[in-house]
Amino acid sequence: MPRFFIKISALLAIVIFTYACKKSDGATTETGGTDTVVVDKNAPPKTWQEHWFEHEQLLTNTFYDTSVCVYYDDDVSKSIVWPNDYMAKVWNYTKKVYGSFGKVGNDNRLFVVLHQGKYSGGHPSTYFDASHDYRNTIDCGSTTANAWGTYDYGTVAIPTHEVGHIVEGASKGIHNSPAFPVWGDSKWMEIYIYDVYLGLGLDDFASHWYDEMMVKSDDFPAAGTQWFKNWFYPIYSQHGKAAVLNGFFETLARNFPTRIAADGSKEYTRDMNLGEFIHFWSGAAGVNLKEQATLAFGWTTETNAQFTQAQLDFPGIKY
Ligand SMILES: *[C@@H]1O[C@H](CO)[C@@H](O)[C@H](O)[C@H]1NC(C)=O
Repeated sequence: MPRFFIKISALLAIVIFTYACKKSDGATTETGGTDTVVVDKNAPPKTWQEHWFEHEQLLTNTFYDTSVCVYYDDDVSKSIVWPNDYMAKVWNYTKKVYGSFGKVGNDNRLFVVLHQGKYSGGHPSTYFDASHDYRNTIDCGSTTANAWGTYDYGTVAIPTHEVGHIVEGASKGIHNSPAFPVWGDSKWMEIYIYDVYLGLGLDDFASHWYDEMMVKSDDFPAAGTQWFKNWFYPIYSQHGKAAVLNGFFETLARNFPTRIAADGSKEYTRDMNLGEFIHFWSGAAGVNLKEQATLAFGWTTETNAQFTQAQLDFPGIKY
């Protein structure tokens, strides 16, 4: 074959390849021989080997888009597709309210892991955590038969709850949840979930949830505390709804002590006490919430001392 012909072929191949790569920011087509292979740079790994807690499944990716990547273990029916849309909506809404979750260059999608017949319950992980390969992850399991089969009020609560943990643990580019010891595993989630349902237009879920939460009672910080009824719902409904929820994390990020961790990420240095919690929520709401706190939690001399100290320690928080 004449030399110039080879050169022209090579040049043509380069031109075709360059064109293919520029075609769109999603799919590119690479031609090789007679096969055409579609390569999507958004594609997550086809499988994901679990290496956290007691989990040891080889997960299979069943769906992905620009918002979510869904993985099932071998016992979850691939006919279950509601998480593809629902979890993408939850994640989209969450990012709209609380900002993005990820560093430049990192995958900031939500990785949704479902298990059938094992690992009852759920847990989150954030883009800060090596435990789940720096992916914003919710991992939910159940031993109930066909646990994830139906999209309904009962099924969506746990996956939605786990996303709320990502919010508290990783919003505003800062790792850790200083309020966790105050509100525990699920009090923040009660209002977060309520707001998500409303934000997604799921009014039936929202009103069902509201009815359930209004009669809940806990033994912290004081016996008989009704977190939703006497703390979160009044603040939410009177001081800006989603904006006041986000405002709490904004107020934290602007004022609460942080440091740069060994791996270079920013993290809160410590937990907050109840008095600081009331001060920070007052900042988010723009009003002094002492009266609301008294109704919700009671007002002890310790709370009073903490609250007074918080006002001295964080004078930038005004209300
Ligand atoms: C989530 O947001 C992305 C980006 O705006 C959008 O393309 C996608 O359709 C949304 N997903 C759902 C399920 O609404």
